[in-house]
Amino acid sequence: MGGGVVKLLRRNAGVYARKLGRPLELAAIADRSLQPDRALGITANLITRDSATLVGRPDIDIVVELFGGHQPARSLILKALATGKDVVTGNKALLAEYGGEIFQAAARHAHAIGFEASVGGGIPIIRTLRQALAGDRQRAVYGIVNGTCNSILTTMSERAVEFKAALAAAQKSGIAEPDPTLDIEGHDAAHKLCLLVTLAFGGLLTPRQVHTEGITRITPDDITYARQLGYSIKLLAIAKEDGGAIEARVHPTMIAADHLLAGVGGAFNAIYIHGEALGSTMYWGLGAGQMPTATAVMADILEIARDRIAGAPARSQALGLPMEHVRRAHVKPMDDVVCEYYLRFMARDRPGVLGAIASILGRNGISIASVIQKDRGAEKTVPVIMRTHETPERNLKRALSYIRRLKMVGANPAFIRIEENL
Ligand code: HSE
Repeated sequence: MGGGVVKLLRRNAGVYARKLGRPLELAAIADRSLQPDRALGITANLITRDSATLVGRPDIDIVVELFGGHQPARSLILKALATGKDVVTGNKALLAEYGGEIFQAAARHAHAIGFEASVGGGIPIIRTLRQALAGDRQRAVYGIVNGTCNSILTTMSERAVEFKAALAAAQKSGIAEPDPTLDIEGHDAAHKLCLLVTLAFGGLLTPRQVHTEGITRITPDDITYARQLGYSIKLLAIAKEDGGAIEARVHPTMIAADHLLAGVGGAFNAIYIHGEALGSTMYWGLGAGQMPTATAVMADILEIARDRIAGAPARSQALGLPMEHVRRAHVKPMDDVVCEYYLRFMARDRPGVLGAIASILGRNGISIASVIQKDRGAEKTVPVIMRTHETPERNLKRALSYIRRLKMVGANPAFIRIEENL
């Protein structure tokens, strides 16, 4: 990302100078391995290995933190704010975990912290929630905020390949990291959801409070059955407000195949927001990549530079409300979350199996909306697909614990939550 920011600073130097009325100067770059690069105007005297000294330098106005991870990023940001700098960062993992401390520090020192690059890469979703949508009350946020997962699910869906093959293809094309855990297990999306929740609903939460499931259990068969039922499967980051409690969850989700979000393919991201007065809006674009993300960093730098030049007090309301009004979010327990479900059982094709499953579901208050049972063929077990009506997650968990004990049903029934009223 840092390379993209330097490229934009060089390429658009004239444009930025016109926009600001004066030039933006790249004062220094802290990087352990960076070498001088004449094409980018990175001379040896711009490079330092000593990031701690750099952020304390009195001649620097804006510190841009693009290290990622918790440390030294956290200490550097806190030091920069304490020594009079405004800060720009794209570090969602850090802000999700330590946002309370960092936003408090920015407010205390009356300095700005820009973090547009932390969610949705180049999509201006932070500013949209904080400013453009400030006049409305948000009801729900649905995000495809992990390009790696979206790309893998798109490949699985288009080519009917297994998860592992789709992951390998994403790694080969550079979309997925060599160690993809953070992405495919849903953690990166959970970090981003923490920030979306804070901006949309004004409450702070940490990734541990977000129910998080990744996409590794999704099979091409589930994608096919979902399609037969009229759905697509997406990894969604979902937040809703319900009577003061916040639902915050990341998991594979079935959504209507003709919904706008279902059409978001490949490595693209999209955030779909339902506002009380505005209704639904969607923000779509590239959620990762050096140049798209660099545009978000530059937007923050330019906004801060404008404020500084105008002599305006630095924006101390990074979250769109005074920090003393920001509370810990009250997160609804997952057991209380109400969804419709897709269920897939591998069952012996014997009389009474369907009845046994249906009876357990019924006893646990779960009503079945539709059933598909596949032909027996040469297989010993056949897939039984069910779609349920709405039920609290606690009921589903209890029913599945009984169904797992049925001898004629395979040990690991699959279930995927359905978002019907998006
Ligand atoms: N690895 C992320 C993604 C981008 O695949 O969307 C950075 O958060």
